[in-house]
Amino acid sequence: MWARFYSTKPDDSRPQSKEPQLKWSSWFRQVHRWLAILFTLTVIANFIAMALGQPPAWITYSPLPPLFLLMFTGLYMFGLPYAAAWREKRQPS
Ligand code: HEM
Repeated sequence: MWARFYSTKPDDSRPQSKEPQLKWSSWFRQVHRWLAILFTLTVIANFIAMALGQPPAWITYSPLPPLFLLMFTGLYMFGLPYAAAWREKRQPS
């Protein structure tokens, strides 16, 4: 349903003036995707480190920075369809 707001590909059905917003949303999606991979790796590193004994603090806390950034990029994506619906309501095209 919200696919057109989340697509990483340019949407030709939309006017040129909307192009910068689309670029930002695809950029946020790409960043969110790579942060998710980074976050997953840090969690796996935690499991491995724990199996080997008491992990150092930097490993224990390493998932937090990517998780924090995931929250911002995720909330941005979450808000996209609502922002678009709000804009559409103000300026019907
Ligand atoms: C921390 C708070 C987070 C929020 C608010 C959030 C929010 C979102 C939202 C709104 C989307 C778009 C969903 C859609 O397409 O309808 C999304 C996609 C996604 N999220 Fe998150 N997310 C969070 C954390 C995470 C975490 C922890 C992971 C994985 C470790 C993750 C992995 C992904 C992936 C892989 C996608 C799909 C990205 C793509 O299609 O390219 N997210 N997230």
